[in-house]
Order: sequence, then C-alpha cells, then structure tokens
Amino acid sequence: MLSRVTARALSAPSAARFFSASAAHQTKVAVLGAGGGIGQPLSLLLKSDPLVTSLSLYDIRGAPGVAADVSHVDTASEVKGYAADQLDQALEGVKVVVIPAGVPRKMTRDDLFNTNASIVRDLAAAVARVAPEAHVLVISNPVNSTVPIVAATLEKAGVFNPRHLFGITTLDVVRAARFLAGVTGSTPDKTVVPVIGGHSGATIVPLLSQTPLGKGVTGEAYKALVNRIQFGGDEVVKAKDGAGSATLSMAYAGAKFTNSLLRGLNGEKGVVTPTFVKSPLFADQGIDFFSTNVELGLDGVEKIHPVGPLSAEEEALLAACLPELKKNIEKGKAFVA
Ligand SMILES: NC(=O)c1ccc[n+]([C@@H]2O[C@H](COP(=O)([O-])OP(=O)(O)OC[C@H]3O[C@@H](n4cnc5c(N)ncnc54)[C@H](O)[C@@H]3O)[C@@H](O)[C@H]2O)c1
Repeated sequence: MLSRVTARALSAPSAARFFSASAAHQTKVAVLGAGGGIGQPLSLLLKSDPLVTSLSLYDIRGAPGVAADVSHVDTASEVKGYAADQLDQALEGVKVVVIPAGVPRKMTRDDLFNTNASIVRDLAAAVARVAPEAHVLVISNPVNSTVPIVAATLEKAGVFNPRHLFGITTLDVVRAARFLAGVTGSTPDKTVVPVIGGHSGATIVPLLSQTPLGKGVTGEAYKALVNRIQFGGDEVVKAKDGAGSATLSMAYAGAKFTNSLLRGLNGEKGVVTPTFVKSPLFADQGIDFFSTNVELGLDGVEKIHPVGPLSAEEEALLAACLPELKKNIEKGKAFVA
C-alpha cells in the first residue's frame, strides 16, 4: 500500500500532468505560407516539437508536397497539406496559426507592403471565419504594419481578442543574444537581451543595459552592436544577393516563439519573451502595438511587462523608435479602414 504522502505526491502532479497532456493533445497548429523559404523549415521544426500534435500546412503552391515530405519524420504529430483552394479546411479546429505567407524583401518597401498587406488581410479574414478563437502569430513583414492589419480585420469581423495576436520579433531577440555572445566571448544562454519596440531598423530597441554582460559593452563597440542587432537582416539579404531574406534563422525563431506560446497555453508558468502585441504602454501617444517582455499563459498574453530601467543611450533609441513605429502602425490601420 502507498503511504499517504506517496499517494498525494503521485496523485496531485499526475492529475496536473494529465490535464496538461490532454490540453497538449488538442494542439493543432497551422502554417499559412508553408511552401516558402521560411514556411518549409518552420514546418519541419514544428513537426519536431512534441507540443504540436497536429500540423496543418497551407500555401497557394506546394503545401501538399511539403506536408508529404515532413510527415515522414518519426514524431507523433499528424501532418496534412492543403492546396490553394483549401484554406478553410486547413484552418478547421486549429488553436495556433503561424503566418509566414508573403513576399520577402527584395522589392521596394512599398511593393512589399501592398502585396503582404493584402495577403495577411485575406488570411486573417479566413481565420476570423473558420477559427476565430485561434492564436495568430504573424511573421509576414512589415510586422509593425501587418499585426495592426490582422487586428483590424479580426475587429471588423467582431472576433478580435488582443490576448491572441502576436507579431513574432523573436529573430531580433535571437540575433541580440548571438551577437552579444560573440562580442563578449560568452554563450547565448548567458546573453539573453530584451528587445523592445517594433521589428524593423530603428524601431528595434535592444536593452543591453538590462543584461549583465551587455552593460559592459560601451562606446564604439556598443554603437556597432546596436546597429548590427537593428540591421542584422540586411547582412542576410546582401549575402543572399537578391534571392531573399532570412529564412532558416527566421524558421528557428518562429518555432522557438511557437513553442513558448504552446508552453504557456499548456499551463507552464513563467514563460516570458518579447513579442509585438496590442499594448497599453505607449497607447496614450497613439502607439497601441508595442513589443516588450510578455508573459504567456493559458489564454495567450497573460501579462505585459513594462519597459524597465533604460540607460541614456536606450532612452535615445526609444525616442527614435516611437515616431517611426507610430507611422508604421497607422499605415497598417489605414490599409484596412
Ligand atoms: N518576422 C521576421 O523576423 C521575418 C524575418 C524574415 C522574413 N520575414 C517575412 O516573412 C515573409 C515570408 O518570407 P519567405 O522568405 O518565406 O518568402 P517566400 O517567398 O520564400 O515564401 C512565401 C510563401 O508565401 C506563399 N504565399 C503567398 N501568398 C499566399 C497566400 N495568400 N496564402 C498562403 N501562402 C501564400 C508563397 O506561395 C510562398 O510559398 C516575408 O514577408 C518576409 O519579409 C519576416
């Protein structure tokens, strides 16, 4: 017979485990744009995530092929691919929708905006129709504008839940940790940097002063590091020589953020990461989307953390971020109005 203490020790956590396992059991994730440069490796990484139990891959071209390929990986999840005319079927029953659909930046910014804005708006309208409760994770650029577009589209359909919408800025966080590790001769697990603001150029604000090793980087080295974090994407665009922008590191970052969200949805406590969400922090200045550390919980956004203490340099970076971010958000809103 089990002692009372042993019985309690077994029954309480196993009930908790059972609950979280059953929640995880229903986690169907859709990737919209699964045939692309980001979509393919992202689908592969999500297939490897034990918290994803079902994977729904959609694209206007190539998703059934990607799905057939990825489905042979020996993890437990089921994978299904959907052709161009099967968007609604792809979204049935999904809990999380990740959107890397769109064109990467090799065209002018305006062309990128117009093309991706329409793609994201139409996909968001389908989410509103078929999976209004889903958590929507936006990768398609420009994130500073596409997230407000998704919000406004869901709002028009009467189903917007600010806890369920995220712009994925994780690549900036990944780059900041990697680059700071390089500068300090450390490893990225010891150089995690909160990155706030938005997701393009000057709107990306790394808070190196909030990281013990980051604090020690000063002068020209500091300026160069901040610049590299803000414009790291350009290194990839240049090196790919017209063939596109970051895909592999972006897929990694997308899978990393999706895993964080799923851990929160499954009841894990203390999952905190920066993400671009509807935020009250600068709403009084007309900037109602902003990225800071966000705690992820059972219903998505659990708690939006404040910016925290800033150095004088970071105050200046934030001052440069805000007006540009405001313009980007307004441009997104105007597109849907
Ligand atoms: N958030 C970030 O940090 C970050 C980083 C890199 C790239 N991006 C952005 O991600 C997006 C995708 O980049 P990529 O390199 O994978 O581009 P890509 O051209 O290789 O792939 C895009 C895919 O989207 C598909 N697509 C187009 N319209 C669609 C629609 N209506 N429905 C479903 N799928 C559709 C295309 O068929 C293609 O397979 C771009 O907007 C890019 O700027 C974001």
